[in-house]
Amino acid sequence: MKIYITRIIPDKGIALLKERGFEVVVNPEDRVLSRAELIEALKADRYDGVLCLLTDKIDSEVFEAAGPQCKIFANYAVGFDNINLDDAEKHNVVVSNTPGVLSNAVAEHTFALMFAVARRVAESDRFIRKGSFEGWAPMMLLGNEIMGKTLGIIGLGAIGSRVGHSAAKGFDMKVIYHDMKRSEMFEQDCGGSFRENVDDIFKEADFVSMHVPLLPSTQHMVSEARLRMMKKTAYLINTARGPVVDEAALVKVLQEGVIAGAGLDVFEHEPQFAPGLTDLANVVLTPHTASATIETRDAMSELAAKNIIECLEGRTPPTQVVKK
Ligand code: GLV
Ligand code: GLV
Repeated sequence: MKIYITRIIPDKGIALLKERGFEVVVNPEDRVLSRAELIEALKADRYDGVLCLLTDKIDSEVFEAAGPQCKIFANYAVGFDNINLDDAEKHNVVVSNTPGVLSNAVAEHTFALMFAVARRVAESDRFIRKGSFEGWAPMMLLGNEIMGKTLGIIGLGAIGSRVGHSAAKGFDMKVIYHDMKRSEMFEQDCGGSFRENVDDIFKEADFVSMHVPLLPSTQHMVSEARLRMMKKTAYLINTARGPVVDEAALVKVLQEGVIAGAGLDVFEHEPQFAPGLTDLANVVLTPHTASATIETRDAMSELAAKNIIECLEGRTPPTQVVKK
């Protein structure tokens, strides 16, 4: 069995594949392959499985290049909006992702962004490096506290639940949430309160945090109209997928002072930004690194490898993506 990996990842999973006697070929260059390069790489040999990344767009053309012997595309991400599931089904290809193992890392990053923007950490760091600090001052760089505020979670999957739990237990936040369905377990865990209408989250929350997958129904879910429903003192946090937010509209409302700020780890057209976004002082930006911890990236590597092994040895992969 031979596996192709589209970019260098932590060694854990690669070692696991090799232990099982699989031959592993890794794109030797640490960069995203262009579509043509990916297709060429897959055509160059006969691979039984592919470990791909969220930056690889996978559809019929790619499955055809891989050939009919290629049984699985294991995505090194929890999100799988980069893979066309209808095309996978047509080509009899199993798709898997890496849920669970990155929930803590992404939840932590959600708080990192909340604190960084509300307590003006990134701005303060720039202030110091610019040489502006002339000593303690009563009115300098005042921010907003997180303790006791209302957190609005949109999308109550593993990550959203984790964020809600820590917010309530760690920072005495009042948690409200919106999802397609209500979760009594979550409500019991942290006193979270369900909002059937997503607009109510935008109206009530001091922090709105996005945790939905990217789907046609969630694209631009954070629209200009909804941003304008938010409190003037509220913040938007996005660690989900960029296109969930209308980024140009967000820049506009931030420029107008409609909301207090935003913490963003994902962008609508990565690695580009909406014009004006990087000029704003009240946004904190990280380069899609919410899951970027050593622990989590190792675990993602291992889980992706396990999915490949289980599939190619004729068993059900532990985190196979099932088309809804
Ligand atoms: C990261 O964005 C992921 O989906 O794992
Ligand atoms: C702040 O540094 C204080 O001592 O209040």
